Amino acid sequence: MATLKIKNLHVEVEGKEILKGVNVSISEGETVALLGPNGHGKSTLLNAIMGHPRYKITQGSIYLDDIDITNLTPDERARAGLFLALQNPAEVPGVINSDFLRAAVNATREEKVSTYKFYKMLDSAVKEVKMPFDLATRSLNEGFSGGEKKRNEILQMLLLEPKIAMLDEIDSGLDVDAIQIVADVIKQEKEKGRGFLVISHYARLFDLIQPTRAIVMINGKIVLDGGVDLIKRIDQTGYEFIKTELGISIEKESSNMNEVSIGSCAVKDAIK
Ligand SMILES: Nc1ncnc2c1ncn2[C@@H]1O[C@H](COP(=O)(O)OP(=O)(O)OP(=O)(O)O)[C@@H](O)[C@H]1O
Ligand SMILES: [Mg+2]
Repeated sequence: MATLKIKNLHVEVEGKEILKGVNVSISEGETVALLGPNGHGKSTLLNAIMGHPRYKITQGSIYLDDIDITNLTPDERARAGLFLALQNPAEVPGVINSDFLRAAVNATREEKVSTYKFYKMLDSAVKEVKMPFDLATRSLNEGFSGGEKKRNEILQMLLLEPKIAMLDEIDSGLDVDAIQIVADVIKQEKEKGRGFLVISHYARLFDLIQPTRAIVMINGKIVLDGGVDLIKRIDQTGYEFIKTELGISIEKESSNMNEVSIGSCAVKDAIK
């Protein structure tokens, strides 16, 4: 069984340390909910696991199936069985969605799939995510609505069949029916044994997909790793209990940002 193991991971973005020693592991067959306040490093963790070059690992390691993947390129990590559905999928004008998907599928397989087989795979995956087929024939994400972009990420996951799929706020932008469709796909994939690491701010998605565990990231560290009752507690009371019960003060989002912004300078000048 594949296990993703993160050991003492420290990550810098633009010279600032965002992750400060993350330890966590996720196995195939598990669905782990990742929660935490805005700006505390959740997306940074997923991007660093996937090997995004902007997220610099300064300490620690990432293992998949007991193989050290810390220094592998994103495509090598994808071949090893990792997948990331982005919080903000990029628009790529001029690259046809289905060409992109086919190139991604072929890049993760030893043997290329024939055009006929790929279109059969695509047709069945498009039906599963209940997406209009014309989205597959348009430029990748260009002009897609927020919900269509998210559904396209799930389509990609279905085609790539990763061992561990990481989904970053996959529910943002989805209408109620679309959340149900995406949740049904996730549940189905869970049953096949796929592992999931799922970020969301809302209990609704977690109610539908029934995670096996919940972890909470505060100030660039996993401070809680436990049962799914944590999700309900956070949904109802927020993160304040972490301060009172664990004695961890929650850094304000702004402390991670640049101290001076152009806007604040302009305002200061205007009121002088
Ligand atoms: N490319 C970047 N350049 C500068 N700062 C960055 C960059 N990427 C992330 N950060 C900073 O790192 C911190 C953590 O960001 P991250 O996106 O991981 O937060 P998050 O926990 O996913 O938040 P949210 O719940 O709002 O999505 C933030 O303060 C963010 O501004
Ligand atoms: Mg995020």
